[in-house]
Amino acid sequence: MEDLNGGVLSLIEAARRAAEVIIRHINSKSRISVFSHIDADGISAAGIMGMALSRAGAKFRIRIERWFDEKIADEIASERDSLPILTDMGSGYIEILNRSMEGRDLIILDHHQPSGEPDESFVHVNPEIFGIDGAREISGAGVAYLTAKAISERNIDLAYLAVIGALGDMQDKYENRSLGGVNNLIVEDAVKSGYLKTETDILLFGRETRPIHKALAFTTTPFIPGISGEEDKCLAFLTKLGIKLKENDKWRALRDLSQDEKRKIFSGISDLLISQGYEPKVASTLIGTVYILVKEEPWTPLRDAREFALLLNATGRMGRPGLGVAICMGDRGKCLEEAKKTLEDYRKKINENLRWLDEHKDRLEEMDGIYVLHGGERIDEKMISAISTILSTNLPDTKKPIIAYSIVPEEGLIKISARTTEDLTEKGFNLGEIMRISAEKFSGKGGGHDIAAGAQIPIEMKDEFLRFVNDLVMKELKKIESRD
Ligand code: C5P
Ligand code: C5P
Ligand code: ZN
Repeated sequence: MEDLNGGVLSLIEAARRAAEVIIRHINSKSRISVFSHIDADGISAAGIMGMALSRAGAKFRIRIERWFDEKIADEIASERDSLPILTDMGSGYIEILNRSMEGRDLIILDHHQPSGEPDESFVHVNPEIFGIDGAREISGAGVAYLTAKAISERNIDLAYLAVIGALGDMQDKYENRSLGGVNNLIVEDAVKSGYLKTETDILLFGRETRPIHKALAFTTTPFIPGISGEEDKCLAFLTKLGIKLKENDKWRALRDLSQDEKRKIFSGISDLLISQGYEPKVASTLIGTVYILVKEEPWTPLRDAREFALLLNATGRMGRPGLGVAICMGDRGKCLEEAKKTLEDYRKKINENLRWLDEHKDRLEEMDGIYVLHGGERIDEKMISAISTILSTNLPDTKKPIIAYSIVPEEGLIKISARTTEDLTEKGFNLGEIMRISAEKFSGKGGGHDIAAGAQIPIEMKDEFLRFVNDLVMKELKKIESRD
């Protein structure tokens, strides 16, 4: 532990304070309510807290929410006798919480950019407060894990869930697509507790068992036109490369291929991407660190931590987050069967949305400073996050962030999912800040990370909002240019 710097020590100390309050409430037999975010990171964070609370004998329940707003704040406040724990959300909306929970115990375990000073009675555990990058060095599940470990050392066996959360939030930005920063310590715990091993390979899902053309078709990061979602075309592509698809009448999987065959596939995909105008570095993201969950059966989507994260995302985005939480808490059997079906439905829905966008290219509008994806009512609010991520790897002008939105008619608002690139954030560009300022200007809510952020705003403000975001982005880009 000698390489821990001051920021990490302060973060661990904050987690210890949170654990103290949680233990006090458990001992006094009060109820605990966990509120978490609907994506893979939020669901793994909820699973970690659920396991830690259950082992400590707590009375608790878990709620998964698509976003934080006054309604949730009021609900939290209305439960007078219980201790609320927010995981993977809350830090961006401290002022709302100050109003509804003033003077009461509240635990926030989050990694989003904080906004506002929390009430003295809250325990706020967030890496950003201690100079640690919440978008790259630790996820919401990671913060929940540090707290679980402070509740009891035996919770070290939950570290693998925090690895899944970090991969779900795409924090594998270090060399060889590995996790870094505080996540490194969590990876060490997961390895030490016997749940995780790492290898370097082509990053295809189902590498141990899935027929290679299917594994290829499942790849969506990066999105490869003509490959992603297109099994038949993958078959043709591999045949053309001279890859033998079957051995003794059995489909071969990635693990059955020789290094030479893998190299052929990689350079085939590279050539394809480059011929479509992608930069060479896009293809390089196809090779990297594989996080293998050694206690999971090799033929399930839980074996590969990235695919586990995708499955959790699918349960959340398809309206079945309870399945995801149950799986994180150790349920397999029937829940896993259901979740696998949900994952298939989710893949189909993503592919269907992408096909529709391909046929309706006018839905992607290029403004001076941003791309706008008009998802309207056609792209479900729950899918817009994944679609925005996929399209962001696929834009002609990489300097322009993508602002994708869906209409949520029953709420009278639009849900925005915004993404930018590492190239811009390295120069100080902060999309989370832009979303927060713009949303607040139009009676909405926004925030997130420098690289990925979101907002909800009233429908009628849509056009003005988009113009405002465009202008603000232009201003920021000019500032960056003048510094260069
Ligand atoms: O709320 P939370 O922090 O868990 O979510 C972060 C979101 O940002 C995830 O949906 C993740 O996939 C997305 N992301 C992204 N591109 C990045 C980093 C994060 O789309 N480079
Ligand atoms: O929903 P989406 O995945 O696009 O959100 C990107 C990031 O922005 C997530 O980390 C999410 O928690 C955050 N966000 C936020 N406030 C909002 C909407 C999204 O902090 N109002
Ligand atoms: Zn997160």
